[in-house]
Amino acid sequence: MAQRIGLIGKPLAHSVSPAFQQAALDYYGLDVRYEAWETEAEELAATVARLREPACLGANVTIPYKETVIPLLDGLDEVAATVGALNAIVNRDGQLWGHSTDGEGFLRSLRQEGGYDVRGARVLVLGAGGAARSVVLVLLRAGATAVTVTNRTWARAQRLVEDLRPRAGGGELQAVPYTPAALAEAVSAASLLVNCTSVGMRYTPQEGELPLPPELIPPAALVFDIVANPVETRFLAEARRRGARALNGLAMLVYQGAASFELWTGLPAPVEVMLEAARRAMGLESGRGGYG
Ligand code: ATR
Repeated sequence: MAQRIGLIGKPLAHSVSPAFQQAALDYYGLDVRYEAWETEAEELAATVARLREPACLGANVTIPYKETVIPLLDGLDEVAATVGALNAIVNRDGQLWGHSTDGEGFLRSLRQEGGYDVRGARVLVLGAGGAARSVVLVLLRAGATAVTVTNRTWARAQRLVEDLRPRAGGGELQAVPYTPAALAEAVSAASLLVNCTSVGMRYTPQEGELPLPPELIPPAALVFDIVANPVETRFLAEARRRGARALNGLAMLVYQGAASFELWTGLPAPVEVMLEAARRAMGLESGRGGYG
C-alpha cells in the first residue's frame, strides 16, 4: 500500500511543495504520495491525528498552523522548541515529532544562491512571526554580529528579542519601532535586509504592497524576500531598481522541503530535481535563477 505525506495549511491551492516533493519521491521510485490537505482550524486536531497511522510518514505544516499545531504533538526538536513554530512533522512509530527546517533553508539559500557569508553581518529583519523567529535564530547562531528586528506589532518584536536573546549566541539582538525614522536608521547600518512579513504575498490583500518605504532600501545591501510566491515581489523589484542585489524565497522553500524529505525518508534529498520541479510548477524557465 502506498504511504503518504501531507501538507497541512490553508489556503494550499497555489503551493508548489506537492510538485517538488513528489518529484523527489519519484526520483527514488518510492511508493509514497505527497498530498495537499487543506485544513480548516476546527479540523486541525483530526488531520494531525491521522498522521499517527503507520502508512503516514509525516507532514509539512504551513500558514496558518505553524504555531498552533505544537500542542497536538509528542515532541519538538531544539530549534522548533526555541522558535515556537515548526514546518515539518515526522511520524516515529505513532509518536509525532515537530521539526523546524525553515532557518536551515534560509541559511542554505543565502549561502548558495546569494553567495553571502553571514559571519560578521549586520542584518535588519522585517517581521516577528514564526518565519522571522527562525531567521533571527539561525542568523545569530551562524555568526551575525548584529540583528535588528522591527515589526508592526511592537509587543511581538519585544517578545522575539526576549525569547531568543538568551539562546542565540554572542551577536547583538535588538528591536526598533516600525516607524520611518527608526527604519531609516536601522536600514542604513544593515548589509542584509530580510523581509519576513507576509506583505507582498500573492493571493492576499497585501499582494503588490511593500513592507518598507522603497526609498529606504539601501543600494549596497543584499535584499532577501522570503515570500516565495510571487518569485519577484514588488519589494525585490524596487530593491533591484535601486541597485541592490535581490534574492527571492523559492530556493529557501525548496531547501526547507529538502531537509523535511531527509527527515521522512532518511535519504539524501535530490535538491537539483526539487529546484527544477519547483521552477516548473511556478512557470519559470529552468536553470539556476535564485537571484538577479
Ligand atoms: P509566519 O509564520 O509566516 O511568520 P505570521 O506569524 O502570521 O506568519 O507573521 C506574519 C508577519 O507579517 C508578522 O510579523 C506580521 O506583523 P504583526 O505581528 O504586526 O501581525 C507581518 N505583517 C502581516 N501583514 C502586515 C502588514 N500589512 N504590514 C506590516 N507587517 C505585516
